[in-house]
Amino acid sequence: MSSDNLKNLIINELNKRNHFDLEKISVAFPYFDHNEIINALDSLLDLKISQGQKTKEFENSFSKYLSMPYAAAVNSGSSANLVAFAALLDLKKIKKGDEVIVPSTTFATVVSPLYQLGLVPVYVDIENKNWNLNSNLIEEAITKKTKVIMPVHTLGFPCEMDKINEIAQKYNLIVIEDCCEAHGAKYKNSIVGSLSDISTFSFFVAHNITTGEGGMILCKDEELYQSILSIREFGRLINYKSRFSSYGNMNNYDSRYMFMKNGYNVRLNDISSSLGIEQIKKLDNINKERRRNAKYVRDNLKLLSDKIYIPTTEDHNLCAYYGFPISLIDKNFNRNELCLYLEENNIETRAIMGGCLPDQPAFDNQLHRIHDDLPISRYVRDNAFFIGIHSALNQSHLDKIISTIISFFEK
Ligand SMILES: Cc1ncc(COP(=O)(O)O)c(C=O)c1O
Repeated sequence: MSSDNLKNLIINELNKRNHFDLEKISVAFPYFDHNEIINALDSLLDLKISQGQKTKEFENSFSKYLSMPYAAAVNSGSSANLVAFAALLDLKKIKKGDEVIVPSTTFATVVSPLYQLGLVPVYVDIENKNWNLNSNLIEEAITKKTKVIMPVHTLGFPCEMDKINEIAQKYNLIVIEDCCEAHGAKYKNSIVGSLSDISTFSFFVAHNITTGEGGMILCKDEELYQSILSIREFGRLINYKSRFSSYGNMNNYDSRYMFMKNGYNVRLNDISSSLGIEQIKKLDNINKERRRNAKYVRDNLKLLSDKIYIPTTEDHNLCAYYGFPISLIDKNFNRNELCLYLEENNIETRAIMGGCLPDQPAFDNQLHRIHDDLPISRYVRDNAFFIGIHSALNQSHLDKIISTIISFFEK
């Protein structure tokens, strides 16, 4: 079959399946066309189904997109966070018992790798404006044990990176940006994920671009990169020059089976990577459409400004709008009732990730520190949620979101 025939066949099949006729206003949508499917088929037809050349190509295009020198693909954003910290421990840049400053409102696997690796999360409250780590509270949370600040660009809203980097420099701290919800977002003209020592991404299906499951770690330091490559792949010897290697009692042993570090197997396969290669090409347009949709909904909900709050960012930033966040500020109304009303009207809703993480059952008895009270985090836990704002939503979806929210308050 010629490639034109294959392409037409796939386009026809996709059209028949009417993916864009969304009955439900979903929180997420994998924005694929025939290119993702053809590239994945290409990997399958070449019988290249584990980590290989396509994964390298995906890493190269992502590192170029972010202007970060090193990129290592992994099987999830959670694994990206786990391996980033494992590599810092491996190189003794940090040690067990060290503290990591994190926002109290974010996703669970920002902090679970810390508990798993014997590091101590220090929960700092979020700011009112857009529910990101409050950079004004970081300095007072720092102790002699603090080694890392981990801002998370929540729902695509960029964190105050100038302030965070200034504090990090003053106290000689490492900064790791969790960009799992913020592909392509910009802080003052610079892309998030390029503003720190290390950054992590997720390509789970709910995110702005997706490989089904997947993740990426980016860094500026070659030694750290080499450690990451080994740890993501059983801890094996990476980039060996000869077929057999020697170490201690392991004389002239098969280099492929020399294990140098305590590692995991969290590799990404070439089928997923071939989706990622096509998705990156679409990212800027996807985000433009998300921003346009968000602006339309925001503008048309202005009449409810005494009842709901919608997070914002400064004009010099570009939000990637992972979702469209809303919180209730009028105490006469209840967040869960609004969510149920939206769901009854086929509009999906989600919590702002883990709410207030130290209140979660998994973490409440574990070793961490909570800096001060967490009033904004607990307010968001109890009053906020997000809905979808992705590029598969059309004008009538957006109008339905607006009219349904308005009608809830008129009821
Ligand atoms: C901020 C943040 N970090 C990490 C993750 C974990 O990513 P994954 O689902 O790919 O494991 C998520 C998941 O959505 C997230 O929102």
